[in-house]
Amino acid sequence: MTVEAPAKINLRLAVGPVRADGYHEVLTVYFAVGIRDRLRASAADDLTVEVVGRQAELVPVDSSNLAVRAARLLAERAGVRAGAHLRIDKRIPVAGGMAGGSADAAAALVACDRLWNLNLGRDALIELGAELGSDVPFAVHGGVALGSGRGERLDPLPTRHVFDWVLVPAEGGLSTPAVYAECDRIREETGWEPVPPRVEEELIGALERGDAAALGRALANDLQPAALRLNPALEATLRTGRELGALGALVSGSGPTCAFLAADGAHAAALCKGFAEAGHTAIHGTGPAPGPRVVDDGRYP
Ligand code: C5P
Repeated sequence: MTVEAPAKINLRLAVGPVRADGYHEVLTVYFAVGIRDRLRASAADDLTVEVVGRQAELVPVDSSNLAVRAARLLAERAGVRAGAHLRIDKRIPVAGGMAGGSADAAAALVACDRLWNLNLGRDALIELGAELGSDVPFAVHGGVALGSGRGERLDPLPTRHVFDWVLVPAEGGLSTPAVYAECDRIREETGWEPVPPRVEEELIGALERGDAAALGRALANDLQPAALRLNPALEATLRTGRELGALGALVSGSGPTCAFLAADGAHAAALCKGFAEAGHTAIHGTGPAPGPRVVDDGRYP
């Protein structure tokens, strides 16, 4: 059973106060973008994983692997003693703020649900996803959605429009807890008054209308100052994209991948060329992308 699952960017990430459980209250617009990891699940006695592809050496292959944890949770809850061998082919930048680990967990849930003939359905898998990580429910969902709570509660935001993005991964990753902690430090230093997180109407309207220029202006990420402080080189990456004519530029999630909005596919290709000339790797991705999809159910050899 082979499943492909897309990366995400946060078009808006509004971070509110820290909650009693240590998580931050957030309001975020999740957007699935068509850069995909591929996961193959095959029948096995135990639960094992191997990782190949881009930055594969950075992904753990022990029981801390999020895809393994997803498969284990699914087996436990469904009460099956089945195992699986998972083979993950990475395309999504690792520790890049694009929910690559969550995409692999979502792919594992969908693949093992089919491999083990459980047929739990998307809603049940979304609920299980919330136990694995704040971004996993959206990784199962795909498309565009408003995330609330710690990011795990979803309201779909349907849009009929396609947007072109250019993603620029950075050297090294950023740890999500470290970026949230840096955000707290900056807020303490600047005397931030706690306010509930909110998403501006301009952004929702631009998405609905397919207005890329307005969407570009409305992109915002409350974690960006923290990510920039932990990796100051990102400032120059964002500036390069703006100088090349991107409609909008921001750090994706907790970073360090930077996301740039293009007017269309040709504009995205031009931005990629400009980034390459400036010495950066750049990846073109379109979205909203659908959630995890079975691309091979193993029935045809
Ligand atoms: O939910 P997940 O395991 O992906 O979160 C990783 C870490 O990121 C949490 O342990 C927490 O430090 C931070 N986080 C947060 N507020 C959120 C989501 C994540 O503080 N809404």
